[in-house]
Amino acid sequence: MTIRWLLAALHLLALGVGLGAVWARGRAFQAPLDVPGLRRVFYADTWWGVAALVWIGTGLIRAFGGFEKGSFYYLHNHAFWAKMGLLAAILFLEVGPMIALIRWRGAVARGGVPDTRAASRFARISFVQGILVVLMVLAATAMARGYGVSQKG
Ligand code: HEM
Repeated sequence: MTIRWLLAALHLLALGVGLGAVWARGRAFQAPLDVPGLRRVFYADTWWGVAALVWIGTGLIRAFGGFEKGSFYYLHNHAFWAKMGLLAAILFLEVGPMIALIRWRGAVARGGVPDTRAASRFARISFVQGILVVLMVLAATAMARGYGVSQKG
């Protein structure tokens, strides 16, 4: 029971960290991208990544490790699948910024100047991802309260 409680706490803490981090990353992408500006982007991006790992790690254990309502419940729940669809959209949107930021970090580490022309697009992507996280919270709270239970399930 203590593990169940700690998993739930970590899962919710990831929401606090991740939503703030992705919004901060969006704002940082819009600011001047000199070295201190780039470091603000990297800082927010690191916390966004940490939140994603904690969310997915604790979420998978909660859903399929038998700590909450059991795999059968979630796999037959429309709100769960809506939540997973939103997560897939967030991950799909992340491909571009992730690849670019790996390059940007490398360039700054070597003392170079990265090509930041895509920054305003990445800002928009980050804000859209923030909105998708809010929609995930709507799906998650519905799923936890018995909405979306499949009639056939
Ligand atoms: C961006 C990622 C995620 C967000 C924002 C998120 C959000 C939330 C929130 C707010 C709750 C609390 C619902 C409540 O008790 O009212 C929750 C619960 C839960 N989440 Fe997530 N989650 C995420 C990722 C995941 C993933 C990847 C999985 C599993 C594959 C998952 C599985 C669960 C489970 C099993 C619960 C417990 C539901 C229950 O009490 O029956 N989550 N999530």
